Amino acid sequence: MAPSLVVKLHTTAAEQTRELGRRLGRRLAAGDWVVLYGPLGAGKTTFAAGVAEGLGIREPVTSPTYLLCHEYAGPVTLLHLDAYFELRMDSVLAEGLAERLQGPVVVLVEWAEKMRAWLPPDRIEVSLAHRAEGRELVLQATGPRSRARLEGLEGVEAFLAP
Ligand SMILES: Nc1ncnc2c1ncn2[C@@H]1O[C@H](COP(=O)(O)OP(=O)(O)O)[C@@H](O)[C@H]1O
Ligand SMILES: [Mg+2]
Repeated sequence: MAPSLVVKLHTTAAEQTRELGRRLGRRLAAGDWVVLYGPLGAGKTTFAAGVAEGLGIREPVTSPTYLLCHEYAGPVTLLHLDAYFELRMDSVLAEGLAERLQGPVVVLVEWAEKMRAWLPPDRIEVSLAHRAEGRELVLQATGPRSRARLEGLEGVEAFLAP
């Protein structure tokens, strides 16, 4: 098994978090999962909006908290989930959403810790945390497929955490 890869980054404005998402999004393909961890306001939806732009999706991305899942059409379809209401999410997953996640789509999950049992073993994990100035993002690959995505991330040097 390939060792995991961890990249620690720091952003001082929402646009920088979005830009990191964009750079990752440009590298993704159907079948990839990006799962987001971090408290309210940490920047999960901001990062997700960047990923969508990087994928070439034109539609503006909004928080899927109440609908649990937003679908965006584009060069590759994006399913953007928010598992905050984990009991509701669990039943929606059991009623067919889990099957849609297996399709030719990119999956982005906010509050991924609340649907841990449904996550594939090979995924990109992004943990966001508030810092005195801005946010700290830790990107981690948990398998060879996600590792290949993170390895080629362009220009991340500028965001490397001190
Ligand atoms: N460095 C930063 N990265 C991301 N968001 C930031 C940053 N600095 C300030 N913000 C602000 O924090 C908020 C993050 O909101 P959002 O992305 O909806 O978080 P979450 O989805 O984690 O609840 C936005 O209002 C954004 O403008
Ligand atoms: Mg959000």
